[in-house]
Amino acid sequence: MKDTRRTVIAGNWKMNMTPAEAKALVTEVAPLVAGKDKCDIIFCAPYVDIFAAQEAAKGTNIKIGAENVHFAAKGAYTGEISAEMLTACGVEYVIIGHSERRQYFGETDETVNLRTKAALAAGMKVILCLGEVKEERLSGITDEVVAMQTKLDLKDVTAEELKNVIIAYEPVWAIGTGLTATPEQADETCGVIRATIAKLYGEEAAEAITIQYGGSMNAKNAAELLAKVNVDGGLIGGASLKAADFAAIVDAAQ
Ligand code: 13P
Repeated sequence: MKDTRRTVIAGNWKMNMTPAEAKALVTEVAPLVAGKDKCDIIFCAPYVDIFAAQEAAKGTNIKIGAENVHFAAKGAYTGEISAEMLTACGVEYVIIGHSERRQYFGETDETVNLRTKAALAAGMKVILCLGEVKEERLSGITDEVVAMQTKLDLKDVTAEELKNVIIAYEPVWAIGTGLTATPEQADETCGVIRATIAKLYGEEAAEAITIQYGGSMNAKNAAELLAKVNVDGGLIGGASLKAADFAAIVDAAQ
């Protein structure tokens, strides 16, 4: 039931923010969201910003996560970061499978699945992103696409591990474009993902899992989207870089 599911409002800073800017933003947001306990509040930050953001978030209800994680425990993977490195830095949440990783960095459902399993094995909470591209929506195959991604990305993830998974439904055509899915579209496709979880893990797991919407969510459209029965939160890009806008989205989730 929507009432018993945890609402999660997460910012994805993408490749934005120096450590000083990260610190300033978290410091500005903290008093605006203080005491707003109807949702979990997370900023997923570039690796180099994590310490500064954590420092600023100390003693607040804001958590700091990462934007990606590699699947190997360690080794010759220049430029990558392991789950163990993140947990050692006190990072609990990590975004995996963002469409920009899939689009620009060759991420596939197979590598998304490997990263997801590695993060879960390390005890992390995963924000697993999936969603259709414009051509897929126009061809009427959105449901099939998100169902397939859900199955492939969660392959061999146990029911126990699934409790640490949040799914972010992000239609690729809505990301950074100012085009938002209508509340009905968001609700319907989040519902397809939930039905797929029910097939894979049973009704109880499907009712319990948090499914966020992401794609041009902002201070104006958040309340309508978050009111939908299958939408349990938001993954926010652009609007998470502005304190007042992000805080307004947290307000809409209250
Ligand atoms: P925008 O909110 O900028 O559209 O980005 C959404 C997103 O990609 C969050 O991960």
